[in-house]
Amino acid sequence: MTRTFFNRRDGELYVENLSVAEIARREGTPLFIYSQTALRVAYDALDKAFAAVPHTICFAIKSNMNLAVVRTLVERGAGIDVTSGGELFRALQAGADPQKIVYSGVGKTDGEVDEALDAGIRFFNLESRAELGCVNARAEARGVVANITFRVNPDVDPKTHPYISTGLKNSKFGIPITEAREAYAEAKTLNSVKVVGVDCHIGSQLTDAQPFHDALLRVRALVEDLRNAGHEIQYLDCGGGLGVVYNDEEPPSPKEYARAILDAVGDLGCEIVLEPGRWITANAGIMVAEVVYEKNNGGKTYTIVDGAMTDLLRPALYQAYQHIEPVGPARGEERLVDIVGPVCESGDFLAKERPFPPVEKGDLIAVFSAGAYGFSMSSNYNGRRRAAEVLVRDERYSVVRAREGYEDLIRGENLGEGLDEELAE
Ligand code: LLP
Repeated sequence: MTRTFFNRRDGELYVENLSVAEIARREGTPLFIYSQTALRVAYDALDKAFAAVPHTICFAIKSNMNLAVVRTLVERGAGIDVTSGGELFRALQAGADPQKIVYSGVGKTDGEVDEALDAGIRFFNLESRAELGCVNARAEARGVVANITFRVNPDVDPKTHPYISTGLKNSKFGIPITEAREAYAEAKTLNSVKVVGVDCHIGSQLTDAQPFHDALLRVRALVEDLRNAGHEIQYLDCGGGLGVVYNDEEPPSPKEYARAILDAVGDLGCEIVLEPGRWITANAGIMVAEVVYEKNNGGKTYTIVDGAMTDLLRPALYQAYQHIEPVGPARGEERLVDIVGPVCESGDFLAKERPFPPVEKGDLIAVFSAGAYGFSMSSNYNGRRRAAEVLVRDERYSVVRAREGYEDLIRGENLGEGLDEELAE
């Protein structure tokens, strides 16, 4: 997805039919703004690309867990991919159909497994044989049967950032595909789990379709073996990972992505499950921040804004490129600047050595492609209140998460006076 729903009118940035500056002036900064239409269009494009086969698109809620965002997708028919009890709770709160929820994640706790069993999710993507034992025991104790797949690592290089590569044989995720047959055989001996499929997620922000194809060819061979061994492989969960345009990438279109997958496994008669996160949400959102100061240190210009790594961690954590523009018309010729937040970390930057026009205190900037892994990775470090989130549809918007206040920063804490009492005894 590109940034189709963010446009300029008379030099001013608009989201759908609303001025970004007007929303930001009213709601304050830093602010995440999402286009509901962009979310729908992205979801629908992916859905359409897989129309030829039975499929479920389980939105990876980790990319953007706002209830209104999730509800928007659930209303289009989306299921949800969750990785924790908290994400499961959010998915259910947003109205997701438990029968369309799949549960991935490398360290599901007993309590989380119980919650998912009680909710009646579609299946668990198991990431180890130890987890198989856990899910079987928890299901047995509840008198139910848990549907499971194993997440297998096909050992294909997704050619993306090492922090978001997951399908190599030495990664912490899933089980090596070479050990899958044994794991499935063990599952068959257990009474409270039922094998329903195979799962594979090789990484995130893939800009080439080939690794998806290569990985699934290996999975295909596994599916055939498993069927020969008497397993019913109804679902093939192909994970997420389809890349988006942050800068000048040329990721596959939904059609090309679908072709890469379906050419490999389309004729197996499985229902295809997908777990896209970024592709649906990244370019449906921006983060707006306000310029606080500009300063020159040792010949370097720093544009200091009120949005920081605590709001949008990707540049600090992955040296990721996020496109940034002034919200209003450019005030002059571009020069090279570092755009940084106020947090006490040298790693707190949004852009380094970036050509950017001159700005003045109070100007607004828009950080693009911030709808995925933006707010969902935010924190309160440095005593920062987390940003507000706004959802726009056409000429209307709704604040779908209130800006945090100081009280939110100390919720659940106390002064530890209980300790004083014990000492006094
Ligand atoms: N399924 C599983 C099992 C995953 O681990 C992930 C992402 C997804 C689906 C969704 O992947 P997507 O379609 O969004 O690429 N914070 C990083 C990305 C971490 C991705 C973790 N897993 C970033 O900002 O680039």
